Amino acid sequence: MAICIGSLSVFIVCCMSMLWSSASHPLYNNGLSPMFYEKSCPNAEQIVKSVVQNAVMKEARMAASLLRLQFHDCFVQGCDASLFLDDSAKIVSEKNSNPNKNSARGFEVIDQIKSELEKACPKTVSCADILIIAARDSVVLSGGPSWEITLGRRDSTSASLQGSNNNIPAPNSTLETLIAKFKRQGLNEVDLVALSGSHTIGQSRCTSFRQRLYNQSGNGQPDFTLEKSYSAKLRSVCPQSGGDNNLSPLDSITPTKFDNYYFKLLVSNKGLLNSDEVLFTKGQGKTMETVKLYAEQEEVFLKQFVESMIKLGNMSPLTGNRGQIRTNCRSVM
Ligand code: HEM
Ligand SMILES: *[C@@H]1O[C@H](CO)[C@@H](O)[C@H](O)[C@H]1NC(C)=O
Ligand SMILES: *[C@@H]1O[C@H](CO)[C@@H](O)[C@H](O)[C@H]1NC(C)=O
Repeated sequence: MAICIGSLSVFIVCCMSMLWSSASHPLYNNGLSPMFYEKSCPNAEQIVKSVVQNAVMKEARMAASLLRLQFHDCFVQGCDASLFLDDSAKIVSEKNSNPNKNSARGFEVIDQIKSELEKACPKTVSCADILIIAARDSVVLSGGPSWEITLGRRDSTSASLQGSNNNIPAPNSTLETLIAKFKRQGLNEVDLVALSGSHTIGQSRCTSFRQRLYNQSGNGQPDFTLEKSYSAKLRSVCPQSGGDNNLSPLDSITPTKFDNYYFKLLVSNKGLLNSDEVLFTKGQGKTMETVKLYAEQEEVFLKQFVESMIKLGNMSPLTGNRGQIRTNCRSVM
Protein backbone atom coordinates (compact mmCIF):
# COMPACT_ATOMS: atom_id res chain seq x y z
CA MET A 1 0.00 0.00 0.00
CA ALA A 2 3.00 2.28 0.26
CA ILE A 3 2.47 3.57 -3.26
CA CYS A 4 -1.09 4.52 -2.38
CA ILE A 5 0.08 7.25 -0.02
CA GLY A 6 0.51 10.60 -1.66
CA SER A 7 -2.78 12.05 -2.70
CA LEU A 8 -6.33 11.20 -1.89
CA SER A 9 -7.30 10.65 -5.51
CA VAL A 10 -4.44 8.26 -6.13
CA PHE A 11 -5.47 6.50 -2.92
CA ILE A 12 -9.05 6.08 -4.09
CA VAL A 13 -8.12 4.89 -7.60
CA CYS A 14 -5.68 2.47 -6.05
CA CYS A 15 -8.17 0.99 -3.62
CA MET A 16 -10.84 0.74 -6.30
CA SER A 17 -8.51 -1.25 -8.50
CA MET A 18 -7.70 -3.47 -5.54
CA LEU A 19 -11.40 -4.25 -5.05
CA TRP A 20 -11.90 -4.82 -8.73
CA SER A 21 -9.32 -7.55 -8.90
CA SER A 22 -10.39 -8.93 -5.55
CA ALA A 23 -10.24 -12.62 -6.50
CA SER A 24 -6.83 -14.06 -5.68
CA HIS A 25 -4.52 -11.11 -5.33
CA PRO A 26 -5.26 -7.42 -4.98
CA LEU A 27 -3.40 -5.45 -7.65
CA TYR A 28 -1.78 -2.07 -7.28
CA ASN A 29 -2.98 0.51 -9.77
CA ASN A 30 -0.23 -0.42 -12.22
CA GLY A 31 -1.52 -4.00 -12.35
CA LEU A 32 1.28 -5.48 -10.23
CA SER A 33 1.13 -7.10 -6.81
CA PRO A 34 3.58 -8.56 -4.27
CA MET A 35 1.27 -11.59 -3.99
CA PHE A 36 0.85 -12.17 -7.72
CA TYR A 37 2.14 -15.76 -7.66
CA GLU A 38 0.87 -16.60 -4.18
CA LYS A 39 -1.56 -19.22 -5.48
CA SER A 40 -0.11 -20.05 -8.90
CA CYS A 41 3.54 -20.47 -7.86
CA PRO A 42 4.02 -19.94 -4.14
CA ASN A 43 7.73 -20.84 -4.21
CA ALA A 44 8.60 -18.60 -7.17
CA GLU A 45 10.71 -16.12 -5.21
CA GLN A 46 12.43 -18.91 -3.27
CA ILE A 47 13.34 -20.75 -6.49
CA VAL A 48 14.82 -17.62 -8.06
CA LYS A 49 16.77 -16.85 -4.91
CA SER A 50 18.33 -20.29 -4.66
CA VAL A 51 19.59 -20.26 -8.27
CA VAL A 52 20.95 -16.72 -7.89
CA GLN A 53 22.60 -17.68 -4.62
CA ASN A 54 24.43 -20.61 -6.24
CA ALA A 55 25.53 -18.48 -9.16
CA VAL A 56 26.85 -15.69 -6.93
CA MET A 57 28.61 -18.20 -4.67
CA LYS A 58 30.41 -19.50 -7.76
CA GLU A 59 31.27 -16.01 -8.98
CA ALA A 60 30.63 -12.90 -6.88
CA ARG A 61 30.53 -10.68 -9.98
CA MET A 62 27.38 -12.43 -11.21
CA ALA A 63 25.36 -10.32 -8.75
CA ALA A 64 26.51 -7.18 -10.55
CA SER A 65 25.86 -8.67 -13.96
CA LEU A 66 22.27 -9.59 -13.03
CA LEU A 67 21.58 -6.19 -11.47
CA ARG A 68 22.76 -4.48 -14.65
CA LEU A 69 20.38 -6.57 -16.75
CA GLN A 70 17.40 -4.94 -15.02
CA PHE A 71 18.63 -1.52 -16.13
CA HIS A 72 19.22 -2.66 -19.71
CA ASP A 73 15.84 -4.39 -19.91
CA CYS A 74 13.70 -1.71 -18.27
CA PHE A 75 15.15 1.18 -20.34
CA VAL A 76 13.91 -0.48 -23.57
CA GLN A 77 10.10 -0.83 -23.92
CA GLY A 78 9.84 -1.11 -20.12
CA CYS A 79 10.56 -4.15 -17.95
CA ASP A 80 9.36 -6.81 -20.39
CA ALA A 81 12.33 -9.16 -20.82
CA SER A 82 12.85 -7.84 -24.36
CA LEU A 83 16.57 -7.99 -23.55
CA PHE A 84 16.51 -11.78 -23.28
CA LEU A 85 15.30 -12.50 -26.83
CA ASP A 86 17.91 -13.98 -29.15
CA ASP A 87 18.16 -13.23 -32.87
CA SER A 88 15.57 -15.13 -34.91
CA ALA A 89 13.47 -14.71 -38.04
CA LYS A 90 11.28 -12.10 -36.30
CA ILE A 91 13.64 -10.74 -33.66
CA VAL A 92 16.66 -8.46 -33.93
CA SER A 93 18.23 -9.09 -30.56
CA GLU A 94 19.07 -6.26 -28.15
CA LYS A 95 22.05 -8.37 -27.09
CA ASN A 96 23.97 -6.94 -30.06
CA SER A 97 23.45 -3.27 -29.16
CA ASN A 98 26.45 -1.08 -28.30
CA PRO A 99 25.79 -1.18 -24.54
CA ASN A 100 25.21 -4.96 -24.50
CA LYS A 101 27.56 -6.48 -27.06
CA ASN A 102 30.52 -8.30 -25.44
CA SER A 103 29.34 -6.86 -22.17
CA ALA A 104 25.89 -7.86 -20.88
CA ARG A 105 26.16 -11.22 -19.13
CA GLY A 106 24.22 -13.55 -16.86
CA PHE A 107 21.77 -14.86 -19.45
CA GLU A 108 22.64 -18.47 -18.58
CA VAL A 109 21.61 -17.85 -14.98
CA ILE A 110 18.26 -16.49 -16.18
CA ASP A 111 17.87 -19.64 -18.33
CA GLN A 112 18.55 -21.82 -15.33
CA ILE A 113 16.01 -19.98 -13.17
CA LYS A 114 13.43 -20.25 -15.94
CA SER A 115 13.99 -23.97 -16.35
CA GLU A 116 13.58 -24.55 -12.58
CA LEU A 117 10.38 -22.49 -12.58
CA GLU A 118 8.96 -24.34 -15.61
CA LYS A 119 9.41 -27.57 -13.65
CA ALA A 120 7.69 -26.19 -10.53
CA CYS A 121 4.92 -24.15 -12.19
CA PRO A 122 4.78 -24.40 -15.99
CA LYS A 123 3.92 -21.30 -18.06
CA THR A 124 3.34 -19.17 -14.99
CA VAL A 125 6.24 -16.92 -14.02
CA SER A 126 7.37 -14.37 -16.62
CA CYS A 127 10.99 -13.77 -17.57
CA ALA A 128 10.36 -10.08 -16.83
CA ASP A 129 9.47 -10.90 -13.21
CA ILE A 130 12.36 -13.35 -12.89
CA LEU A 131 14.76 -10.51 -13.65
CA ILE A 132 13.18 -8.15 -11.10
CA ILE A 133 13.48 -10.81 -8.38
CA ALA A 134 17.02 -11.81 -9.41
CA ALA A 135 18.24 -8.20 -9.41
CA ARG A 136 16.85 -7.60 -5.92
CA ASP A 137 18.38 -10.85 -4.63
CA SER A 138 21.73 -9.90 -6.18
CA VAL A 139 21.79 -6.68 -4.18
CA VAL A 140 20.92 -8.57 -0.99
CA LEU A 141 23.59 -11.23 -1.64
CA SER A 142 26.16 -8.44 -2.09
CA GLY A 143 25.37 -7.11 1.37
CA GLY A 144 22.91 -4.43 0.25
CA PRO A 145 19.34 -3.69 1.35
CA SER A 146 16.28 -5.84 0.67
CA TRP A 147 12.82 -4.69 -0.37
CA GLU A 148 9.42 -5.97 -1.34
CA ILE A 149 8.80 -6.18 -5.08
CA THR A 150 5.56 -6.20 -7.02
CA LEU A 151 5.01 -8.91 -9.64
CA GLY A 152 2.75 -9.68 -12.57
CA ARG A 153 4.81 -8.33 -15.46
CA ARG A 154 4.45 -10.26 -18.71
CA ASP A 155 6.98 -10.87 -21.48
CA SER A 156 7.23 -8.94 -24.73
CA THR A 157 6.83 -10.46 -28.17
CA SER A 158 9.32 -7.96 -29.60
CA ALA A 159 12.74 -6.47 -28.99
CA SER A 160 14.21 -3.12 -29.95
CA LEU A 161 17.86 -2.95 -30.94
CA GLN A 162 17.41 0.71 -31.75
CA GLY A 163 15.81 1.40 -28.37
CA SER A 164 18.73 -0.31 -26.68
CA ASN A 165 21.24 1.79 -28.60
CA ASN A 166 19.35 5.05 -28.08
CA ASN A 167 17.98 4.82 -24.55
CA ILE A 168 20.88 3.39 -22.57
CA PRO A 169 23.55 6.05 -22.05
CA ALA A 170 27.21 5.47 -22.97
CA PRO A 171 30.06 5.63 -20.45
CA ASN A 172 31.37 8.80 -22.14
CA SER A 173 27.97 10.53 -22.05
CA THR A 174 27.92 14.09 -20.76
CA LEU A 175 25.95 14.82 -17.59
CA GLU A 176 23.30 16.56 -19.72
CA THR A 177 22.85 13.38 -21.80
CA LEU A 178 22.67 11.20 -18.70
CA ILE A 179 20.02 13.43 -17.16
CA ALA A 180 18.05 13.59 -20.43
CA LYS A 181 18.08 9.82 -20.98
CA PHE A 182 16.91 9.16 -17.45
CA LYS A 183 14.26 11.87 -17.69
CA ARG A 184 12.88 10.21 -20.83
CA GLN A 185 12.20 7.16 -18.65
CA GLY A 186 10.54 9.18 -15.91
CA LEU A 187 13.61 9.14 -13.68
CA ASN A 188 15.01 12.33 -12.13
CA GLU A 189 18.51 13.45 -11.09
CA VAL A 190 18.20 11.78 -7.68
CA ASP A 191 17.26 8.48 -9.34
CA LEU A 192 20.23 8.89 -11.69
CA VAL A 193 22.67 9.29 -8.81
CA ALA A 194 21.12 6.57 -6.64
CA LEU A 195 20.92 4.02 -9.48
CA SER A 196 24.45 4.84 -10.62
CA GLY A 197 25.33 3.65 -7.11
CA SER A 198 24.90 0.16 -8.61
CA HIS A 199 28.49 0.69 -9.75
CA THR A 200 29.48 -0.06 -6.16
CA ILE A 201 29.71 -3.63 -7.49
CA GLY A 202 30.92 -5.12 -10.76
CA GLN A 203 33.55 -4.64 -13.42
CA SER A 204 34.12 -2.62 -16.56
CA ARG A 205 36.08 -3.42 -19.69
CA CYS A 206 39.02 -1.23 -20.65
CA THR A 207 37.18 -0.13 -23.79
CA SER A 208 34.56 1.59 -21.62
CA PHE A 209 37.04 3.91 -19.88
CA ARG A 210 40.05 4.13 -22.25
CA GLN A 211 39.03 7.50 -23.70
CA ARG A 212 39.49 9.12 -20.28
CA LEU A 213 43.01 7.78 -19.92
CA TYR A 214 44.45 8.91 -23.26
CA ASN A 215 42.18 11.17 -25.30
CA GLN A 216 39.35 12.61 -23.24
CA SER A 217 38.37 15.48 -25.57
CA GLY A 218 39.89 14.36 -28.86
CA ASN A 219 43.04 16.43 -28.24
CA GLY A 220 45.31 13.58 -27.17
CA GLN A 221 45.06 14.57 -23.50
CA PRO A 222 43.73 12.49 -20.59
CA ASP A 223 40.87 13.53 -18.32
CA PHE A 224 42.68 15.71 -15.80
CA THR A 225 39.91 15.37 -13.23
CA LEU A 226 41.01 11.74 -12.74
CA GLU A 227 43.20 11.35 -9.65
CA LYS A 228 46.84 10.85 -10.74
CA SER A 229 47.84 7.59 -9.04
CA TYR A 230 44.51 5.97 -9.87
CA SER A 231 44.88 7.08 -13.48
CA ALA A 232 48.37 5.52 -13.65
CA LYS A 233 47.04 2.28 -12.22
CA LEU A 234 44.27 2.22 -14.81
CA ARG A 235 46.71 2.81 -17.67
CA SER A 236 48.63 -0.28 -16.59
CA VAL A 237 45.43 -2.34 -16.96
CA CYS A 238 44.19 -0.54 -20.04
CA PRO A 239 46.75 0.22 -22.76
CA GLN A 240 46.20 2.83 -25.45
CA SER A 241 45.50 0.06 -27.93
CA GLY A 242 44.63 -3.59 -27.36
CA GLY A 243 43.40 -5.17 -24.15
CA ASP A 244 39.83 -4.03 -24.85
CA ASN A 245 38.36 -6.69 -22.56
CA ASN A 246 40.77 -6.19 -19.65
CA LEU A 247 38.68 -5.66 -16.53
CA SER A 248 38.80 -3.07 -13.78
CA PRO A 249 36.41 -2.86 -10.81
CA LEU A 250 33.91 0.01 -10.85
CA ASP A 251 34.47 0.38 -7.08
CA SER A 252 38.19 -0.23 -6.54
CA ILE A 253 37.93 -0.51 -2.74
CA THR A 254 35.02 -2.93 -2.17
CA PRO A 255 34.23 -4.31 -5.65
CA THR A 256 31.80 -7.01 -4.52
CA LYS A 257 30.16 -5.27 -1.56
CA PHE A 258 27.03 -3.19 -1.96
CA ASP A 259 27.98 -0.10 0.06
CA ASN A 260 28.60 3.62 -0.48
CA TYR A 261 32.30 3.39 -1.40
CA TYR A 262 31.36 4.19 -4.99
CA PHE A 263 30.35 7.68 -3.84
CA LYS A 264 33.37 8.10 -1.57
CA LEU A 265 35.52 7.33 -4.60
CA LEU A 266 33.69 9.84 -6.83
CA VAL A 267 34.38 12.55 -4.25
CA SER A 268 38.10 11.59 -4.34
CA ASN A 269 38.12 11.76 -8.17
CA LYS A 270 38.51 7.99 -8.44
CA GLY A 271 35.34 7.14 -10.31
CA LEU A 272 36.07 4.67 -13.11
CA LEU A 273 33.70 5.76 -15.88
CA ASN A 274 33.35 9.28 -17.19
CA SER A 275 29.60 8.89 -16.58
CA ASP A 276 30.36 8.20 -12.92
CA GLU A 277 32.78 11.05 -12.31
CA VAL A 278 30.71 13.78 -14.02
CA LEU A 279 27.95 13.25 -11.47
CA PHE A 280 30.38 14.88 -9.05
CA THR A 281 32.69 17.09 -11.13
CA LYS A 282 30.06 18.58 -13.45
CA GLY A 283 27.05 18.20 -11.21
CA GLN A 284 26.99 21.35 -9.09
CA GLY A 285 23.37 22.29 -8.43
CA LYS A 286 22.21 19.06 -10.12
CA THR A 287 23.84 15.87 -8.88
CA MET A 288 27.01 16.84 -6.99
CA GLU A 289 25.24 17.54 -3.71
CA THR A 290 23.52 14.15 -3.83
CA VAL A 291 26.84 12.40 -4.50
CA LYS A 292 28.37 14.13 -1.45
CA LEU A 293 25.38 13.23 0.71
CA TYR A 294 25.58 9.55 -0.26
CA ALA A 295 29.36 9.54 0.30
CA GLU A 296 28.76 10.76 3.84
CA GLN A 297 25.57 8.91 4.75
CA GLU A 298 25.31 5.35 3.50
CA GLU A 299 21.82 4.86 4.94
CA VAL A 300 20.45 7.76 2.90
CA PHE A 301 21.88 6.21 -0.27
CA LEU A 302 20.54 2.73 0.47
CA LYS A 303 17.03 4.05 1.19
CA GLN A 304 16.91 6.05 -2.06
CA PHE A 305 18.46 3.19 -4.03
CA VAL A 306 15.56 0.95 -3.01
CA GLU A 307 13.01 3.60 -4.00
CA SER A 308 14.67 4.19 -7.36
CA MET A 309 14.96 0.45 -8.07
CA ILE A 310 11.23 0.07 -7.44
CA LYS A 311 10.59 2.99 -9.81
CA LEU A 312 12.87 1.40 -12.44
CA GLY A 313 11.14 -1.96 -12.04
CA ASN A 314 7.69 -0.47 -12.46
CA MET A 315 8.41 1.12 -15.83
CA SER A 316 5.75 0.23 -18.45
CA PRO A 317 4.96 -3.34 -17.43
CA LEU A 318 2.88 -5.54 -19.74
CA THR A 319 -0.02 -6.70 -17.56
CA GLY A 320 -3.42 -8.37 -17.89
CA ASN A 321 -3.49 -10.16 -21.23
CA ARG A 322 -0.86 -8.00 -22.93
CA GLY A 323 2.34 -9.83 -23.83
CA GLN A 324 2.82 -13.47 -22.92
CA ILE A 325 4.53 -15.84 -20.50
CA ARG A 326 7.50 -17.30 -22.35
CA THR A 327 8.59 -20.85 -21.54
CA ASN A 328 12.11 -20.05 -22.75
CA CYS A 329 13.31 -16.52 -22.07
CA ARG A 330 15.27 -16.46 -25.33
CA SER A 331 12.32 -16.83 -27.71
CA VAL A 332 8.70 -15.76 -28.16
CA MET A 333 6.07 -18.49 -28.00
C1 HEM B 1 23.98 6.28 -15.56
C2 HEM B 1 24.23 5.69 -16.70
C3 HEM B 1 25.03 4.43 -16.77
C4 HEM B 1 26.06 4.18 -17.62
C5 HEM B 1 26.62 5.15 -18.65
C6 HEM B 1 26.55 2.86 -17.34
C7 HEM B 1 27.59 2.26 -18.01
C8 HEM B 1 28.17 1.08 -17.64
C9 HEM B 1 29.34 0.51 -18.25
C10 HEM B 1 30.07 1.10 -19.44
C11 HEM B 1 29.65 -0.61 -17.59
C12 HEM B 1 30.83 -1.55 -17.89
C13 HEM B 1 30.41 -2.44 -19.04
C14 HEM B 1 31.57 -3.10 -19.73
O1 HEM B 1 32.60 -2.48 -19.94
O2 HEM B 1 31.43 -4.30 -20.11
C15 HEM B 1 28.68 -0.78 -16.55
C16 HEM B 1 28.65 -1.82 -15.65
C17 HEM B 1 27.67 -1.99 -14.72
N1 HEM B 1 26.53 -1.24 -14.59
FE1 HEM B 1 26.18 0.55 -15.42
N2 HEM B 1 25.82 2.33 -16.34
C18 HEM B 1 24.87 3.23 -15.96
C19 HEM B 1 23.87 3.03 -15.03
C20 HEM B 1 23.63 1.84 -14.40
C21 HEM B 1 22.44 1.51 -13.67
C22 HEM B 1 21.22 2.41 -13.57
C23 HEM B 1 22.62 0.26 -13.17
C24 HEM B 1 21.68 -0.60 -12.36
C25 HEM B 1 20.52 -0.21 -11.89
C26 HEM B 1 23.93 -0.18 -13.57
C27 HEM B 1 24.53 -1.35 -13.19
C28 HEM B 1 25.79 -1.76 -13.59
C29 HEM B 1 26.49 -2.88 -12.99
C30 HEM B 1 26.06 -3.65 -11.76
C31 HEM B 1 27.68 -3.04 -13.72
C32 HEM B 1 28.74 -4.13 -13.56
C33 HEM B 1 28.31 -5.31 -14.42
C34 HEM B 1 29.22 -6.52 -14.38
O3 HEM B 1 30.21 -6.57 -13.65
O4 HEM B 1 28.93 -7.48 -15.14
N3 HEM B 1 24.51 0.79 -14.34
N4 HEM B 1 27.79 0.26 -16.60
C1 LIG C 1 31.99 8.48 -27.10
O1 LIG C 1 32.55 7.32 -27.70
C2 LIG C 1 32.08 7.08 -29.00
C3 LIG C 1 32.55 5.69 -29.43
O2 LIG C 1 33.85 5.46 -29.05
C4 LIG C 1 32.54 8.20 -29.90
O3 LIG C 1 32.09 7.99 -31.22
C5 LIG C 1 31.96 9.52 -29.37
O4 LIG C 1 32.45 10.59 -30.11
C6 LIG C 1 32.32 9.72 -27.90
N1 LIG C 1 31.58 10.86 -27.36
C7 LIG C 1 32.12 11.80 -26.60
C8 LIG C 1 31.20 12.86 -26.06
O5 LIG C 1 33.31 11.83 -26.33
C1 LIG D 1 42.09 11.59 -30.27
O1 LIG D 1 40.78 11.58 -30.78
C2 LIG D 1 40.65 12.37 -31.96
C3 LIG D 1 39.17 12.43 -32.34
O2 LIG D 1 38.39 11.54 -31.62
C4 LIG D 1 41.50 11.76 -33.05
O3 LIG D 1 41.36 12.51 -34.25
C5 LIG D 1 42.96 11.77 -32.61
O4 LIG D 1 43.77 11.11 -33.56
C6 LIG D 1 43.10 11.06 -31.26
N1 LIG D 1 44.43 11.28 -30.75
C7 LIG D 1 45.18 10.33 -30.19
C8 LIG D 1 46.53 10.71 -29.72
O5 LIG D 1 44.78 9.17 -30.07
